[in-house]
Amino acid sequence: MGVTGAVFCVLMLLLHKSTQQQAFNDKATLNLPPSYRVGWMETLDDEKLISDVNIPGTHDTMSLHGGPAAECQSWSLHNQLLAGIRYLDLRVWGRKLIIVHGVIPQFTTFANVLNKTSTFLSQYKTETVLIRVKHESKGNIPENVINQLKNDPGCWVSDQIPRIGDVRGKIVFVQKNSFKLGIPLFETDQRGDYKVRNISEKEDKITEHLKQALGARKTDRAVLSYSSGTGLPLGRIFKTPNRVAKKINPWLYGYLKDVTKQNLKRCFGIVAMDFPGFDLIQKIIGFNN
Ligand SMILES: *[C@@H]1O[C@H](CO)[C@@H](O)[C@H](O)[C@H]1NC(C)=O
Ligand SMILES: *[C@@H]1O[C@H](CO)[C@@H](O)[C@H](O)[C@H]1NC(C)=O
Repeated sequence: MGVTGAVFCVLMLLLHKSTQQQAFNDKATLNLPPSYRVGWMETLDDEKLISDVNIPGTHDTMSLHGGPAAECQSWSLHNQLLAGIRYLDLRVWGRKLIIVHGVIPQFTTFANVLNKTSTFLSQYKTETVLIRVKHESKGNIPENVINQLKNDPGCWVSDQIPRIGDVRGKIVFVQKNSFKLGIPLFETDQRGDYKVRNISEKEDKITEHLKQALGARKTDRAVLSYSSGTGLPLGRIFKTPNRVAKKINPWLYGYLKDVTKQNLKRCFGIVAMDFPGFDLIQKIIGFNN
């Protein structure tokens, strides 16, 4: 092969790489395309209920540490927000509300996540970020923290579904189980659905959940589906959250692309993912147009 041939091959490789969809990402760096719209909620109608918006979210948002079995994300919170993520899933531990995945500490706290999110919202004032909190250790969120959130004008803690215009620049809490602030949440996943035995079975489950999400009542609750999953650390090939997402995210991108072709206005509600890439995130946002 001559020099021309070699140059041609390199060019084709580059071209191929650049046309590949970024449905999956497990790098910490964020290389957004030049014209990327960070403040994507800007174009949403002020009158629209927040539960009627297609919202890309992350499952176990802050699980960036602890090895392959524990890690669900690679982008920092700030990078996730820049990429368009607007639903955060936080697991907290103890009275200090440190962020954990199961029992594995993630080197940050609930207070820190709130600070970072508020800072982002002060820069992108058209945006809204939904936050769900799960207490993983025995006990509740300390009363002083609850009171602080209730008195924070930057936080929506009412159980009434707000319109977009009511909550731009604000955090909207989502309530479930022991955390009693914010709007009610309906999850299409049943207990144990996160366990992945094989990928095709998982695809069928996600398809079923997304169909259920489309049909679900959204006037008095937010609707959430997960694309994330993990296998048990047994068996020949351990399906870590990363390995599952590497297969599932491109599949989900293709599935949503097929739905887009049917050219109907649709609302899935919130879709919480592991290791999403920005093309997958944009696909979900695109259903709002
Ligand atoms: C976040 O924390 C920093 C440092 O403690 C503080 O200066 C800043 O005002 C906080 N920002 C928000 C939005 O709470
Ligand atoms: C995956 O699970 C389904 C349902 O349990 C089964 O029918 C199928 O054969 C499995 N596929 C593989 C590759 O193991």
